[in-house]
Amino acid sequence: MKKIFGLIVLFFLVDVNAGNLCCSYPCQNNGVCLTKGFKDYECDCTRIDFYGKNCETLRSNLIDIPPPYDNDHSYITLGAHFNHSFYTRVLPPVPEECPTPMGVAGKEELPDINALVQKLFVREKFKPDPIGTSVLFSFMAQHFSHMFLKTDFKRGPQYQWGGHGIDMTNIYGKNKHDENLLRSFKDGKLKLQTINSEDWPVLTKDADVEMHYLGPVPAERKFALGHSFFGQTIKIVIEDYVQHLSNYNFKLMFKPDLLFGENFQYQARASVEFNHLYYWHPLMPDEFIIGDTNYTMRDILVNPGLVIKHGMTTFVDSLSKQSAGAVSVIRK
Ligand SMILES: *[C@@H]1O[C@H](CO)[C@@H](O)[C@H](O)[C@H]1NC(C)=O
Ligand SMILES: *[C@@H]1O[C@H](CO)[C@@H](O)[C@H](O)[C@H]1NC(C)=O
Repeated sequence: MKKIFGLIVLFFLVDVNAGNLCCSYPCQNNGVCLTKGFKDYECDCTRIDFYGKNCETLRSNLIDIPPPYDNDHSYITLGAHFNHSFYTRVLPPVPEECPTPMGVAGKEELPDINALVQKLFVREKFKPDPIGTSVLFSFMAQHFSHMFLKTDFKRGPQYQWGGHGIDMTNIYGKNKHDENLLRSFKDGKLKLQTINSEDWPVLTKDADVEMHYLGPVPAERKFALGHSFFGQTIKIVIEDYVQHLSNYNFKLMFKPDLLFGENFQYQARASVEFNHLYYWHPLMPDEFIIGDTNYTMRDILVNPGLVIKHGMTTFVDSLSKQSAGAVSVIRK
């Protein structure tokens, strides 16, 4: 009797574990897995380029965008599509009550977070970039990515306050009001000031825009962001920035007209996974050599005073001559 009971319990357990078939991610090509009753599943292939039981069959030549999830739900929601306060999630969440944290594969328990940080983030030795990317590039990367990765820290790390796109808000501010405060309304230029005969943005007190500087920065060094060569940004980004990041052997070109008239969905959303991956620690050198002075990372952090001290020309010139670190998936 005891034996039979044991067997029944065993069968029951096996059955529960096999219960949610979505745990094994049967839907391909970003199809959305839905449970159907207790023992079946269905793949929703809406808005993707495939159809079939597991969204495995090619339908057309659309370049599609993965269905967006938000951080608060384990299923797709209207909010994930339309509410811009969320970073979307591209990776489908692991369904509830799966045998392992990864669904059915992988270990029973997630690794210790501190061990992960040690393994993935802590640098052992600086590796110079093999294709000669300069340290200046990492400043460009930060400036550029501030357009679309704008975490709303008041609400939490899953929220953001931007428009999810390349919108030049890093130069012009987040709305028309701020933009007008930054503009000179003369010759299409932003407000500028001259320091040691170089063009600089005005200080925040003179443009009266709200800017958040991390750490203690004196008022006379709080610049209101803006510069005058914005027209080239996209071209520089595609042909230089993406080239450097990708390490492709072929040369990238910016030619948006190639896609005119094609079935291409332009609209995309900044996703939380992208934000997590978007750290350029490996680009940073152990020391920054500006002019003939050797600075540590701590000296450089939130310190526009150094740029004034050496002058923009020397600063840019020095950074463009120093090699950045190699970007890799492991950020050491
Ligand atoms: C968007 O989501 C946020 C956070 O959940 C919520 O506070 C806000 O009301 C939502 N906005 C709309 C228009 O639904
Ligand atoms: C900069 O300083 C560090 C630490 O003091 C030293 O290891 C490094 O060799 C110096 N680099 C140059 C170029 O002087």
